[in-house]
Amino acid sequence: MKALVIGGSGLVGGHLVRALAAAGWETTATQRTPPRAPPATHRAIALDLLDPASVQALPGQVAGVFFLARTLQKGYRIERESNVRVLEAVLDVLQDLPSLRHVQLVHGLKWYGSTAGPFPVPARESDPVPGAAHFYYDQHALVRERARGRPWHWSTLRPHCVSGVATHSPSNVMLGMAVYAQLMKEQGLPLAFPGSQAAFDARLTYTSADLLARAMLWAATDPAARDEDFNVANGDVFSWSQVWPAVAAAFGMEAAPPRPQALRDTMPPLAGLWSRVVQRDALVPNALPALVDWNFMDATLALAWEQTMSLEKLRRHGFGETVDTPAMILEIIQAYRRLRILPAP
Ligand SMILES: NC(=O)c1ccc[n+]([C@@H]2O[C@H](COP(=O)([O-])OP(=O)(O)OC[C@H]3O[C@@H](n4cnc5c(N)ncnc54)[C@H](OP(=O)(O)O)[C@@H]3O)[C@@H](O)[C@H]2O)c1
Repeated sequence: MKALVIGGSGLVGGHLVRALAAAGWETTATQRTPPRAPPATHRAIALDLLDPASVQALPGQVAGVFFLARTLQKGYRIERESNVRVLEAVLDVLQDLPSLRHVQLVHGLKWYGSTAGPFPVPARESDPVPGAAHFYYDQHALVRERARGRPWHWSTLRPHCVSGVATHSPSNVMLGMAVYAQLMKEQGLPLAFPGSQAAFDARLTYTSADLLARAMLWAATDPAARDEDFNVANGDVFSWSQVWPAVAAAFGMEAAPPRPQALRDTMPPLAGLWSRVVQRDALVPNALPALVDWNFMDATLALAWEQTMSLEKLRRHGFGETVDTPAMILEIIQAYRRLRILPAP
């Protein structure tokens, strides 16, 4: 019951270390930046996976490895080569540990070519792999190759738009939407969806970070999930147009029709306004650029076609949990308020 979470300070990792603690695992988690205070849920170690010397600091006694670190370049650019290299470096050190039982990777809907244009929906794990290269395919081949002839198993999970609570994650759609709404409110504007009408109406499956963490634990420990890939999502289909009036109401605002914009251009000038809100309401001091990566938000809003996945395989293998997405969105907004990352309504 010893876990190693590689990338434990991120959005997925933060929810996972809490789920592991609740399930009684003894967890070590890595990140580049050391935490300000020792966490209550796990032991944190700081290392940079791109630095081969620091990878040697990985613990030598682990049963479950959860690999969540994804290297990013400026402007939310995801590079293929370095993302393969970091997994290689970790497996080089861990693959022959006698204690090792399972290595898990978290990939996503991009596996199906979801960002390139409309793709077969709902996406199924058995769908043919699209032609374009992606580090997911290289990592998948690598973990399978390293597992061959060794006593441990692997699994990969494919969520979409992981929804939860984190502060320094660049891929945090819920915090991005909530900060955008707050900034519109501060200017006395109605709440217009910041993407196209097509993106507003697109059918989506999102993944609660809490549900994902429980699915990860299940896949790492249930023999039925060994050496398999699973889509993971809440189990319902929604569109932002369905939930927008409720989101606006949660901020005490009026919902308005979509107003497509490049958030990477329109939001940075509001950094001063955000700092004033932080001071006025004594929020946790987070500067706007550290809180939201607007390039990620633009990339997410550019997905103006259906983004749904089949959960049939996940259900058939034994994981049946569901989450109501509209309720989840409102709960996450409340959680950010409780943590004083967002102001009270
Ligand atoms: N978020 C989503 O909506 C979403 C959707 C589908 C799939 N996924 C997948 O889920 C996985 C985790 O995503 P996430 O959103 O949790 O990512 P995240 O918030 O960006 O977290 C990444 C983690 O990796 C660490 N890290 C990054 N570069 C590192 C390096 N060179 N050395 C050591 N640690 C490093 C980060 O800590 P430091 O920054 O302190 O180093 C952080 O702990 C990714 O593979 C992603 O593709 C995410």
